[in-house]
Amino acid sequence: MINDLWYKNAVIYCLSVATYMDANGDGSGDFQGLMRRLDYLQGLGVTAIWLMPFQPSPCKDDGYDVADYYGVNPQYGTLGDFVEFTHGCKQRGLRVLIDLVVNHTSNEHPWFQAARRDPQSKYRNWYVWSKKKPKNAASGVVFPGVQKSTWDYDEVAKAYYFHRFYDFQPDLNTSNPEVQAEILKIMGFWLQLGVSGFRMDAVPFVISQKGANVTKAEEQYDMLRTFSQFLTWREGEAIILAEANVLPGTDMKYFGSAGERLQMMFNFEVNQHLFYALATSDSRPLVKAMRLTKSRPATAQWGQFLRNHDELDLGRLEPKQRKAVFSKFAPDPDMQLYQRGIRRRLAPTLQGDRRRLELAYSLMMTLPGTPVIRYGDEIGMGDNLALPERNCARTPMQWSTEPQAGFTKSDHPVLPVISDGPYGFQHVNVADQRRDPNSLLNWMERIVRMRKEVPEIGWGDFSFISVGTPEVLVMQYSWRNNSVLCIHNLSGEPREIRFALQAEEMPCILANLLSNDHSQPDSSGRHSILLEPYGYRWFRVCGLDYLLKRAEI
Ligand code: NOJ
Repeated sequence: MINDLWYKNAVIYCLSVATYMDANGDGSGDFQGLMRRLDYLQGLGVTAIWLMPFQPSPCKDDGYDVADYYGVNPQYGTLGDFVEFTHGCKQRGLRVLIDLVVNHTSNEHPWFQAARRDPQSKYRNWYVWSKKKPKNAASGVVFPGVQKSTWDYDEVAKAYYFHRFYDFQPDLNTSNPEVQAEILKIMGFWLQLGVSGFRMDAVPFVISQKGANVTKAEEQYDMLRTFSQFLTWREGEAIILAEANVLPGTDMKYFGSAGERLQMMFNFEVNQHLFYALATSDSRPLVKAMRLTKSRPATAQWGQFLRNHDELDLGRLEPKQRKAVFSKFAPDPDMQLYQRGIRRRLAPTLQGDRRRLELAYSLMMTLPGTPVIRYGDEIGMGDNLALPERNCARTPMQWSTEPQAGFTKSDHPVLPVISDGPYGFQHVNVADQRRDPNSLLNWMERIVRMRKEVPEIGWGDFSFISVGTPEVLVMQYSWRNNSVLCIHNLSGEPREIRFALQAEEMPCILANLLSNDHSQPDSSGRHSILLEPYGYRWFRVCGLDYLLKRAEI
């Protein structure tokens, strides 16, 4: 099996240009500012950056309402700045993924403006219309509590238009071959400017049939093959990382049974069961989620994450399970969102408890797939619940104790910098943590570095060792004649586990990759490991001569 697919053993970092670093002092982050932080990102050890939408946009949904697919929002810079940025990334070996938001446009997009004004316009059929209000207009809303309908009347067009998301985001008629051709053109454009692929927004909706007469919408999976082929024809290493919160049974349809569709998808099933497991100190729901999402083509990869820019969506948990997660991590209704999720950042969700933060990150880094880190989580940033909806967790990056956390020279940042309480920038910032060898930031750098040196996780096959203690998860990865054990104690109590390795690995030392306490087997070949509350271990099976033993294929 080829092993140069970069995304199989990458560490992805997601950020929004608007809130990362402001170079020109207008209060909004920009590409010039981001460029000044590339050395920071390289130092952190991440290998790819995922940029949230930065195209011209009214920004009513944080840029997920695009008004021009071929440009840069002037607040963030110019296309020239963008190319300087991708060049700077290339020089540092960092790959760039950008958001591709083509399920819908902004209602201010010239295509929609032309479509609503003129029924004869070629753009009319780029959107989804109905003369009458469809019966199911109230169903299928994505933001319950905020969004009331998926069909709204447009006075100018004198027709209803379909919008899966907010009413200012009319859906593109993605079944229209002209729209599909335009999507390829957009991808081709950004590939030419140096990106290595796309985080594709709302993929199940992009490929779903749309229309007032569609009673049971079917997915048009072939579109995914078309996208993927186009990408690799243009740029061999380019990938799509899909946002597709789908049931495990349909994963293979998205990947394609021979890997001919999507290269990567976020693993939402594992994400929500991970939080359920953390909330209940029971690893079994997580094990089940990993088993359910185990099968995938060898070239495909999961994106594993804890938090992103949206709410932590718990919609696939049973109501009882969701309640358990809410009561543990977001007891106040104001911490919850859209009747299904948690809008907090990771650190406050875990009550700022360093042991639990390390546990959660160590777990994420050792889940089958490629880890995706949210900016600011590497220093344990907090949230501002006074901001509406998901904005609470999108505040500017906290760089230092300078005014506005060193994010901007302006007194009016795009979103307020968190400046009071335990998560205020005076207490949580990069500069302080960089000086402190025991900081979360330095811990994160070390764990990222180690993660990259354990390709068994990205490439290998995994299995579970049953230790009869549900609070403790023991995973084993094997690849090319080597194996690694990752052990996590989800409980706030110490736990001792005993287990034996497979016959061919006995009696073998377990070499601890993160500290000095290696484990020697007893005379019967069994290992006993005492884990502290929320303790974790990464072990190499049979010592550190693994590179001498690694097989070629
Ligand atoms: C998913 C994005 O992650 C979210 O932020 C956005 O609001 C919707 N798609 C609509 O684009």
